[in-house]
Amino acid sequence: MNTVAAPQEGAIRVALLGCGTVGGEVARLLTEQAGELAARAGVPVELAGIAVRRPDKHPELPPELLTADAEKLVTSDEVDVVVELVGGIEPVRGWLLAALKAGKSVVTANKALLAEHSADLFEAADAAGADLYFEAAVAGAIPLLRPLRESLAGDRITRVMGIVNGTTNYILSAMDSSGAGYAETLDEASRLGYAEADPTADVDGYDAASKAAILASLAFHTRVTASDVHREGIADVTAADLGAARILGRTVKLLAICERVTDDDGVESVSARVHPVMIPRSHQLAGVGGAFNAVYVEADAAGELMFYGQGAGGAPTASAVLGDLVAVARNRVVGGRGPRESAHAALPVRPMGQTPTRYHVSLSVADRAGVLAQVAQAFADHGVSIAAVRQSDVGDRASLVVVTHQAPDAALESTVDEISRLDVVHEVVSVMRVEGEDQ
Ligand code: HSE
Repeated sequence: MNTVAAPQEGAIRVALLGCGTVGGEVARLLTEQAGELAARAGVPVELAGIAVRRPDKHPELPPELLTADAEKLVTSDEVDVVVELVGGIEPVRGWLLAALKAGKSVVTANKALLAEHSADLFEAADAAGADLYFEAAVAGAIPLLRPLRESLAGDRITRVMGIVNGTTNYILSAMDSSGAGYAETLDEASRLGYAEADPTADVDGYDAASKAAILASLAFHTRVTASDVHREGIADVTAADLGAARILGRTVKLLAICERVTDDDGVESVSARVHPVMIPRSHQLAGVGGAFNAVYVEADAAGELMFYGQGAGGAPTASAVLGDLVAVARNRVVGGRGPRESAHAALPVRPMGQTPTRYHVSLSVADRAGVLAQVAQAFADHGVSIAAVRQSDVGDRASLVVVTHQAPDAALESTVDEISRLDVVHEVVSVMRVEGEDQ
C-alpha cells in the first residue's frame, strides 16, 4: 500500500497520525473544505498519508492514504507537516522528534507529551527551523494558547485559573444539582458516555495537571512540567462537601490554578496546582456547567479575561487543529515561523506547602463553653488568621464552619490535622480550599 498520494503543485502536504474521533474530523474537514482552507492559507493543504494502527479498520478512508507505518510516514519527503492525534508519550515522542529533525512542522493535541517533553520538542523545532503548534492540547476548541503565546505576549500575566477537564466538571455539576455522591454520579456519567471506560486520567486530575503545566509554561515564560503541578482529583469530593459549599453560597469545581507568586522579599515564583475548590456561585467559573471548559486569565494591563467553550469532542478539537494547520501553511507561504518557546523567565516552581491558599473547614463539634476557643487556638497556633466563623446548632452538637484568610497551604493542612484530633471535634465534615473571593 502506498503511504503517499500524488501531490498538487505547491501544496502543503499533511501526515495525519491517528484517525479516531478528532482525526476523522480533521480528515473530513481537510477534504470537504479544501477550497476554503487553500484560500485562507494561501496554498492548498492536503492529506499525504494517514497512519493508523489497523488500516483495515478504516474503510471510510481512501486506502491509498492509509499506512500502519507512522515512523516511515513522518519522515517521508512528500510530507511537510505532521498532525499528531494519537496521544501518550511513546512511541509518539520518537515520531515527532524524527519529524522535526527532518524539518517537518508539527501540530499536536498531545498534552501529556507537551507537559513532559516540550523542551526537547521546541529544541528540535528550532534546530530545523520548523513550527510546533498545539492549540488543541488544552481546552479543545477554545482559542487559549494562541492568546497566551501571542496576543498577551506584551503583557504580564499574573494568573490563569480554569476548568480544563470536562469529565470532572460534568460529574461535579451533576453532584451539585442532584445531591448524589461521587461514585453514583461517576457511574451515571460513564453510562451516558461523559466519562471514559477508564476515567483515571480525568478524575484523578492527571489530564488537568498536564494542561496546567502547559498553561503555566506559556503564561509565565518558564518551563513547568506535569510533575511540578500539585495534583488532587475529585474522587474524595463528597455530597457533604457540596452541601457545605451550598450553605455558604458556593459550589465545588476542579480547577487548574497557575499563579505568579511574589514573596515578602519581592522574589517571584510560579505555583501550578489542580485540586477541587469551593468558589462563590457568583463567580464566572461557577456557572460553567456540564462538560464545558472555561479559563479565567488575569494580566496587568489587560485586566480580567474569560475564555469559554467546548473542551473536547471531534469537531471542536478539529477546529483547533485546523487553525494550527492554517498557521503552519501561512508561515510556509511567507517563509517564516510561528512563535518559538519562550522560557526566558525561568522562575522557580513554588512547592504546594508554601503556596498561599485559603481553607473552608466544616466541623461537627460539641456544643459547650470553650469549644470555639479551642478550635480558634489551633488556627492561631499555626499562624492562620480566621476570616469568618458560622455556627448552627444540631441537638447537643454544633455545626461549625471556619473560613480562613490566606496562609501557606502546609500551615492550613497542619491546622486541620490538629483540629481533627481535638476531643471536642466529633467529625471533620468537609475541608476544601476556597478561591475567587477577597483574601
Ligand atoms: N478528557 C478530557 C476532558 C478531554 O474530560 O475534558 C480531553 O482533554
